[in-house]
Order: sequence, then structure tokens, then C-alpha cells
Amino acid sequence: MSSSSAPPAPPQPAQQSNANSMHLSPLPPTVFTLPQTAQLEALYTIIRDKETNRGDFLFYSDRIIRLLVEEGLNHLPVVPRTVKTPTGNTYEGVGFVGKICGVSILRAGEAMEVGLREVCRSVRIGKILIQRDEETAQPKLFFSKLPSDIAERYVLLLDPMLATGGSAMKAVEVLLEAGVAEERIIFINLISSPEGLTAFAERFPKLKVIAGWIDEGLNEKAYIVPGLGDFGERRYCE
Ligand code: URA
Repeated sequence: MSSSSAPPAPPQPAQQSNANSMHLSPLPPTVFTLPQTAQLEALYTIIRDKETNRGDFLFYSDRIIRLLVEEGLNHLPVVPRTVKTPTGNTYEGVGFVGKICGVSILRAGEAMEVGLREVCRSVRIGKILIQRDEETAQPKLFFSKLPSDIAERYVLLLDPMLATGGSAMKAVEVLLEAGVAEERIIFINLISSPEGLTAFAERFPKLKVIAGWIDEGLNEKAYIVPGLGDFGERRYCE
């Protein structure tokens, strides 16, 4: 009988699957997820792990946020643009059209501003604070500061966790009241619950959502499961 232990399992080749959207099928037509690669799943595995320290949580959640912002920008319109290259040739490409801005839903959404700034230099960013009204238990607007010309911009709305969807829906109401057209808003989040995402997409059928991952559901405390816990605490507290 050999005393040697079994060799370690070989690394698995990177594969595509639809694990990031399997809890909501079919997806509402306005909801998009990231291409589900092993790389992406590895990033999510790190940020979900309760043993991950704050430094790694920051680093890896920022990597996901950059991917989400890039995917959000893919949904903005472009116009034809022709340039001359250093070789003296002409290149017929496209250019961005229209101004954008970010709006973060405080406080967790603020954590996504760095990722947005890394992708969109000198982008204007507004803020919205929504909290539960103690009397009515409904989400209530406490504070908003938006760019004065927001109605002329495309808006990337930022909130990492879409649980019941109450705060995100209230934030969209604030943007609509400020004159932003629904179809000019792109909502970006790292993890959605299927119930929150369904309610949100039904309420705002012209608004696009980039959901990095759609989890199983909500627990009795309205936390997303399996989720990653409280995003703000993971991000801001050691
Ligand atoms: N907000 C969080 O930070 N986590 C959840 O699971 C739900 C809402």
C-alpha cells in the first residue's frame, strides 16, 4: 500500500456559465449582467468570504465596480467619428455623445465613486440620502445634491446592493423629479436579489440595470443571501 497522499486536483480551466443570473430566469429585458467568467466568480468569491480583510475587500470590490461601470458605459449612445492616425491614415470610428454624471445613493453607493472616477475622468457626481421613515416604514428622501444640469445628462446611479429595491426606487423618483428621462438612467449594482430586481424592473421598464450578480433571495432581515453581509461595514469598518 502506498503511503503517498493523492496529488492535488489540477486547476480547473476557465469556463463560462450563467451562475450570475440563474436565480432570475428569464431576465427582464432591461437587466444586464457581466459576462460570467471564472475570473469574475473568483472576484465575487473573495468579497463574499467573511474572512476577507478590509484591504482585500476594497481592492477586489473596486475591480468589480470598474467592470460594472465599463458595462454601463457600453449602453450609452455613440456617433460616427473619423480621426487621422500617426501613420497618416484615416480611421472611421465612433465617439461618445452626451454628457454623463454619477449619482451615488448614500452611504454604500459612495464606495462606487472611486471606480467611476477611474473610468470617467473628472465626472460630475451627485448624492442622494434615503432612509427609512420611522413612522411610515417607507423609504424617505433626507438629502440630495445633484448637478444643476442633470436633466441634460445620462446618469449612472450607484448602489452596491439591491435588496428590496425601496431605496433605489425612491432615488429614481428623485432623478425623474429633477427632469432626468427614465431611459437616460443606468442603475449599477454589485449584487441584486431577484425580488428587488423584479420589482425595480417592473416599476421602471425603460431604465437599464447592470447587476453584477443575482443572488438567491432575501433573509428575514432583508439581507441578500448568500450575499456578502453589510457592504458599508465591510468597506468602511475593520
Ligand atoms: N445592504 C447591504 O449592505 N447588504 C445586504 O445584503 C442588503 C442591503
